[in-house]
Amino acid sequence: MILRLEKVNTFYGLGHILHDLSLGVGEGEVVALLGRNGAGKTTTLRTVAGLAAPRSGRVLYKERDIAGMEAHRVSRLGIALVPETREIFSYLTVKENLQIAERRGSRWPMEKVLETFATLKERLAHKGRELSGGEQEMLAIARALMTGPDLLLLDEPSQGLAPLVVNTVMETMRELKRERVSMLLVEQNAEMALALADRVYVIDHGSAVFEGTPDALRSAEGIMSAYLGVGTV
Ligand SMILES: Nc1ncnc2c1ncn2[C@@H]1O[C@H](COP(=O)(O)OP(=O)(O)O)[C@@H](O)[C@H]1O
Ligand SMILES: [Mg+2]
Repeated sequence: MILRLEKVNTFYGLGHILHDLSLGVGEGEVVALLGRNGAGKTTTLRTVAGLAAPRSGRVLYKERDIAGMEAHRVSRLGIALVPETREIFSYLTVKENLQIAERRGSRWPMEKVLETFATLKERLAHKGRELSGGEQEMLAIARALMTGPDLLLLDEPSQGLAPLVVNTVMETMRELKRERVSMLLVEQNAEMALALADRVYVIDHGSAVFEGTPDALRSAEGIMSAYLGVGTV
């Protein structure tokens, strides 16, 4: 396992958000984290990325406990977060947005990133704010890759995108999967997540209520309807 959360408890002020949450991501594995709005999915990613410090529990990354470590140090260890808000620099060009994240020795140098994200290659001189939602999401993922992460955390990459564009983003993520990038993928779009993931967790009120393969989840109708609001996928 490249990442293992053990009985993690995270609070925002007095609000107890993650309750003894345990989950894991294997090397090269794509793990989906599903659950309804407010279940604690973003908080889970923020806890791993060092943006929220857990009050108790362990966050083991490559067997080392990084719970409470500062975000910039977590990033340097090889964990990259693609936040829900994407955080593209509007007034910088695509190329500049990518260069900012460039790291020496990254196994994802600029040429390789642009090979994978062909649409960005055609947009290198465009400003961030000139990109479509889909292109901005691609840029956010591409920028995260530039740092050469061993673990990619993705927060609702399909959010706000038209179905056709979701397919393009998904294709790119399939390619990253083939490159054996380990991913923890948060999604509201269960269909997309289940199509990509090797394993799935469903969380509710900050605890895991299901763990298994996408097929196992598809046949767990009770879980699907209670926590994901879907009959069948
Ligand atoms: N910065 C914050 N301060 C206080 N409460 C927060 C903050 N961010 C999120 N929460 C609360 O934590 C809970 C989980 O939020 P979040 O992790 O964003 O859920 P999800 O991503 O699954 O929709 C929600 O009840 C939300 O209102
Ligand atoms: Mg969220």
